[in-house]
Amino acid sequence: MNISTRVKQLKKSAIHEMTRLSKQFDDVAFLSWAKPVSETPAHINEAVISAIKNNLTGGYSQSEGLVELREEIVKKLQRDNNIKADISEILVTVGAIEGLMASVMSVIDPGDEVILPTPTYSTHITQVKLASGIPVMVPLQENDNYSLDIEAIKKAITPKTKAIMFCTPSNPTGTVFPENKLRELAEVTLEHNLTVITDEAYEYFTYDDQKHFSIASIPEMKDKVITNYTLTKSYAMTGWRIGYLHCNKENIQHIKKAHIPLTICAPVASQYAAIAALKGSQQCIEKFRMSYFKSRNLMCERLDRLSSVFEYVKPDGAYLMFPKILGKQGKDSFEFSKRLLYEAKVSTTPGVAFGPTGEGHIRLSFCVPEEMINKAFDRMEKYL
Ligand SMILES: Cc1ncc(COP(=O)(O)O)c(C=O)c1O
Repeated sequence: MNISTRVKQLKKSAIHEMTRLSKQFDDVAFLSWAKPVSETPAHINEAVISAIKNNLTGGYSQSEGLVELREEIVKKLQRDNNIKADISEILVTVGAIEGLMASVMSVIDPGDEVILPTPTYSTHITQVKLASGIPVMVPLQENDNYSLDIEAIKKAITPKTKAIMFCTPSNPTGTVFPENKLRELAEVTLEHNLTVITDEAYEYFTYDDQKHFSIASIPEMKDKVITNYTLTKSYAMTGWRIGYLHCNKENIQHIKKAHIPLTICAPVASQYAAIAALKGSQQCIEKFRMSYFKSRNLMCERLDRLSSVFEYVKPDGAYLMFPKILGKQGKDSFEFSKRLLYEAKVSTTPGVAFGPTGEGHIRLSFCVPEEMINKAFDRMEKYL
């Protein structure tokens, strides 16, 4: 069979490889998954059961998503993101991932460059490659809380640059890009006529005094941004595969042309789940946030006890952190993660999966019960 060069160039995901290797062992302490371990709240499940019983879920919906759902999304964008949207500016997607892929497909041509502040979510890099684009990785400033390096971004812009794509709060570093930096970035993108593609999957999970800011809330950016959201993290709905994007009315018509051959429409049962999630009590989000906040603090305390092995930046958001491995053993993060798995039965994600500047780090998830964090660190303390 012929395999396209486009797909051939893609490397096996280090995340999936670690998951495969981890399955060879019993009783692994998992710090490698970025998926919430909580159950989807009961009121969401019940609403879907009722939609199924009422025969509402068997057919396609409009490609852009059910009207009732898009109306709820419009209210949420105004309430939580300070984005004034019209229902015609919303596209319901199969998680954030499909929205991001449709965004990239509709913005770039083969050979176009997309700036990715790295380390970043590995799927973004893959999506740019899959669209035959060129990912241009601009390092975040690790010694300044993994902040955006605006000067370096300016320098990386060429006539081929079409877009900049990032997630805030960040996977894998847990950084929340602050409003002032995003305003600076907005100026640069306006000056160079770049499209901004954001992934705001962890929008609700910020800690201490940090606040999530959507760059699309800047009025001048209205026609320049595609903002991707998901219910996966906020409502523990990984498996439902439901998200949405916001963009101006004119451009969304083009994104829809990429969305239809990818999926026709998002799963209708999941659209009913999303309606229930957005209409219902939002307390579950705060409950999850508080539990991640406690786990983050615990993980930082445990890392402090391993200060001869790791150096870390305390994450302000998401439920991930990205410690640097000190000394010689930090040279090859994949080898380091494999050794931790084989010898201490702790599963982590090698930093190299998140772009070249991720080498020498591991990603740790704290969306797990506290016992799991303690078990993993007890083992690491013995082994390292
Ligand atoms: C930054 C980021 N975006 C998107 C996703 C996946 O989102 P969804 O399940 O909505 O496709 C993840 C999952 O880990 C993520 O970390």
